Amino acid sequence: PPDISLTNVKAHLTQLQNIATANGGNRAHGRPGYLASANYVKGLLDSAGYSTTLQSFTYNGATGYNVIADWPGGNPDDILMVGAHLDSVTAGPGINDNGSGSAAILETALEVARQSLVPTKHLRFAWWGAEEGGLRGSTYYVSNLSTTDRSKIKGYYNFDMVASPNPGYFLYDGDDSDGVGSGPGPAGSAELERVLADYFTSIGVPTRGTDFDGRSDYGPFISRGIPAGGTFTGAEGTKTSAQATLWGGTAGQAFDSCYHRSCDTTSNINDTALNRNADAIAYAVWTVAAAPAPVVV
Ligand code: PHE
Ligand code: ZN
Ligand code: ZN
Ligand code: ZN
Repeated sequence: PPDISLTNVKAHLTQLQNIATANGGNRAHGRPGYLASANYVKGLLDSAGYSTTLQSFTYNGATGYNVIADWPGGNPDDILMVGAHLDSVTAGPGINDNGSGSAAILETALEVARQSLVPTKHLRFAWWGAEEGGLRGSTYYVSNLSTTDRSKIKGYYNFDMVASPNPGYFLYDGDDSDGVGSGPGPAGSAELERVLADYFTSIGVPTRGTDFDGRSDYGPFISRGIPAGGTFTGAEGTKTSAQATLWGGTAGQAFDSCYHRSCDTTSNINDTALNRNADAIAYAVWTVAAAPAPVVV
């Protein structure tokens, strides 16, 4: 798997910040900064050779958009999806939430193209609209698939906040290893978690589980029984002293003290967390989608 360029990921964040600044300070559903963000992502993917769709839907009296990008090739009946929400709240530019996940999966998708990856599975990336209004874009997408098309999606990786300034390293707890909270994800989620866990083990960074509590775009996937996984570096929750011992940073402070605030700018990014998560995403895509088929003798 490739090493994803932190410089390139941060350049996307700068572009998303500039889009917000030019459009009243946010990239929220129904505001011009959202469509500009969607067009930025779509333009790069189109140039790289993806088949892209701007899927529109209506929420709260405004048009929302999902950007769906298919990488040509792979088994069309065996699809891996990778997604991130692209909208911000109205209060600010949404650079950690969720420019970070959006930029990290964008750069991974562009690296797939640069390497002319020939995956075994079919690869589909998604940038969701109106997550902040209640997972509206991802819900629209999943609800509008036919039963047959839905059954072809064998896994969904979600990335929502992957560069929190006081970061934790959380993996959606597909195997319910901690035995508390919402329980395991759909069958197959444990395997998606394991791949991410293997990456963090390989770089010597400990991880902890975070529950599928329904707060991000994996929700409509797991409610339809599609296995899901992903990473998260923390939102408004407070880092405990045990977590500060594990990961560094500041105990007693929020993972992201600018969560849903105007200060969620390009200054609200931990580069180390962003770099590690972007590389983890690429590792997972290459491992899950591109693993060579076993040789049959
Ligand atoms: N989805 C939340 C938001 O966008 C953030 C979040 C992500 C919370 C993952 C919990 C887990 O505001
Ligand atoms: Zn949010
Ligand atoms: Zn979010
Ligand atoms: Zn787990």
